[in-house]
Amino acid sequence: MHFNEHFIFGTATSSYQIEGAYREGGRTPSIWDVFCETDGKVFERHNGNVACDHYHRFEEDIQHIKKLGVDSYRFSIAWPRIFPEKGVYNAEGMAFYKKLSERLRGEGIKPAVTLYHWDLPMWAHEEGGWVNRSSVEWFTDFARVCFTELDGLVDSWITHNEPWCAGFLGYHLGQHAPGHTNLEEAVKAIHHILLSHGKAVQLLKEELHSATPIGITLNLTPIYPKTDGTNDRLAANNSDGYSNRWFLDPVFKGTYPVDMMNLFSKYVHSFDFIHPGDMEIISVPCDFFGINFYSRGLVEFSAANDFMSKGAYSDYDKTGMGWDIAPDEFKDLIRRLRHEYTALPIFITENGAAFDDQVEEGSIHDQRRIAYVEKHLKAVAELNEEGMNIEGYFLWSLLDNFEWSFGYDKRFGIIYVDFDTQERIWKDSAHWYSNVIRNRSLET
Ligand code: NOJ
Repeated sequence: MHFNEHFIFGTATSSYQIEGAYREGGRTPSIWDVFCETDGKVFERHNGNVACDHYHRFEEDIQHIKKLGVDSYRFSIAWPRIFPEKGVYNAEGMAFYKKLSERLRGEGIKPAVTLYHWDLPMWAHEEGGWVNRSSVEWFTDFARVCFTELDGLVDSWITHNEPWCAGFLGYHLGQHAPGHTNLEEAVKAIHHILLSHGKAVQLLKEELHSATPIGITLNLTPIYPKTDGTNDRLAANNSDGYSNRWFLDPVFKGTYPVDMMNLFSKYVHSFDFIHPGDMEIISVPCDFFGINFYSRGLVEFSAANDFMSKGAYSDYDKTGMGWDIAPDEFKDLIRRLRHEYTALPIFITENGAAFDDQVEEGSIHDQRRIAYVEKHLKAVAELNEEGMNIEGYFLWSLLDNFEWSFGYDKRFGIIYVDFDTQERIWKDSAHWYSNVIRNRSLET
């Protein structure tokens, strides 16, 4: 299983999950700082105040990235560092990302930069957050300074990371900040997030005439019915609508799926937040498509649920998150995307696994993580043999970090972080991945 010389091997992180320095460099709170202080939301009330202290240790972390030998490093920009208050630009915040990008480039590593990885400034939330249509303007102001100040330093832009999480987990299921449980809010928030994506793409291409590639990253979960019966297939179709089609259809076809609009209309009283012209902006052509893949879903019919669907028992091997390990379903997903949605180059902008790592005499023998990544990389290579044009793979994550509502309890890193001392220790998976990259092959 070989990867050609143009294939991009990378690793990924996000600002709130690793930076810490929550009150430094002019940063103000994001919705996650406040969510972490809310009882019952985050494991043992962990927070990102210090996290991996990457804000202070980024030079050391770049040395790890360099040693791994990756072609590219994906990170995100903390919006509240750039606009700590509404309309107030903070050059000191931007200076951090300039330095980070310059140092990476100095080492021959391509920065792949995400604008929004969930740390919405509190000032924006106080004005309604993503539910307020003005968020589209706030985001484009933020995008504009990032595009202009980091011009020439960034190799690719990702507007949004996983709008499903920012939208449904944050405003409908209440498991992510801001912790609301209101479907109407969620559907509006998602519309504004997608609209802000389209506007940012237009800004970069049409107004700034930049040639830097830009795209969006969706988390996609192929959904399967427990049985072939009509009821379970209905459940799977609805669940696919909620998890995947609600995002894929607008981005690639410029429409929301009508079956889901119908289901949502029990709670969404009007769709007049969709203004004329919005869908054209949302479906503006991009340069690549980013996919975060972790698992599959198995569902069965449930009359007790608005979407007539609930998770079914699955006997698959699982990661430390309890997620099914499903590389074959990953292949199904990519084939479906090629068939139904897009011919754009695909980047796997995240894939990886949490396991209960143990440090034994200074080593971490994370064989299960190696097996997980190997299976998915093999799938990527096989898909490329079928002509699926996957141009890169970013392993989540470089470091153990703040895993949102699970706090520091779940470790996704290929580098272990001792959160008491901030010591970084390479797990076996880091050694293995760097060998794969060096050989551009799974036969190491
Ligand atoms: C996707 C998210 O983008 C990332 O922030 C998170 O840590 C991983 N999934 C693992 O859950």
